[in-house]
Amino acid sequence: MSRFVISLCALGAALAVGAASRAEDAKPGADIALKDKLEICSGCHGPAGVSQIDGVPNLAGAPDLFTEWQLVYFRGETRMNEQMTPQAKDLTDSDIRDMGAYFLSLPAPAPTGPDSDPALTQAGAKLANERHCAQCHTETFAGQGEVPRLAGQREEFIVKALHDYQHGARRGRGNVIMPEIAYSLNEDDIKAVAHFMSRQPGK
Ligand code: HEC
Ligand code: HEC
Repeated sequence: MSRFVISLCALGAALAVGAASRAEDAKPGADIALKDKLEICSGCHGPAGVSQIDGVPNLAGAPDLFTEWQLVYFRGETRMNEQMTPQAKDLTDSDIRDMGAYFLSLPAPAPTGPDSDPALTQAGAKLANERHCAQCHTETFAGQGEVPRLAGQREEFIVKALHDYQHGARRGRGNVIMPEIAYSLNEDDIKAVAHFMSRQPGK
């Protein structure tokens, strides 16, 4: 738990530093309203934070601190993605806070359709249990604090995220929690756990 407390303070500091440097170059009227910015987000992430596009994650119901930290990483270019990194470039600290609260307030995506492969779901459940994913991502995999919701997340995005951690393309807070876990998974594990997580109701 102390890790989360420490990182809460760090987030405050990260946002405060941004605020100081940004206050100077803020021009009156140059800023577009939060509502307009959220409309840009919904072009990819869906109007209710539920994405219809492969490779674009759902944001609805995501823990607020997770969303905020990831936006700080994209803005600081420590999380690189061709489509997403440019979107965060001009976000202010207050945008980032409001966006964290906004996406948390949206109803989390329901797992859709019948399970196409119950045996794979079962294999994923077994793996999640053996590897203690719930220890951080919570029992229902709804996430908490800076730890993302996995329940109902898009299957192909979970696969991509785990590959990114394996290949060092994504480093999170610069610590090794997720890279270390991802290194220990093989392709079958990744397929199974992504299938399982994407089908969890998250409550
Ligand atoms: C052009 C499409 C596009 C737009 C517009 C866009 N995003 Fe994204 N976003 C993405 C993609 C693609 C990813 C996945 C990046 C990756 O694979 O690492 C992403 C990832 C994210 C993540 C990380 C989620 C996770 O589970 O890892 C957050 C948070 C996010 N976007 C918030 C926003 C917000 C807030 C806006 C509006 C300011 C926005 N996005 C606009 C395409 C977009
Ligand atoms: C010790 C805590 C911990 C454990 C155990 C853990 N995770 Fe994570 N996980 C995290 C944190 C923290 C993040 C956010 C890291 C970042 O900023 O990129 C994360 C991120 C992720 C993401 C990225 C999701 C997204 O929306 O961007 C996936 C996928 C994931 N974890 C899957 C798993 C799986 C599967 C397991 C079990 C095999 C697992 N995690 C176990 C802490 C943990």
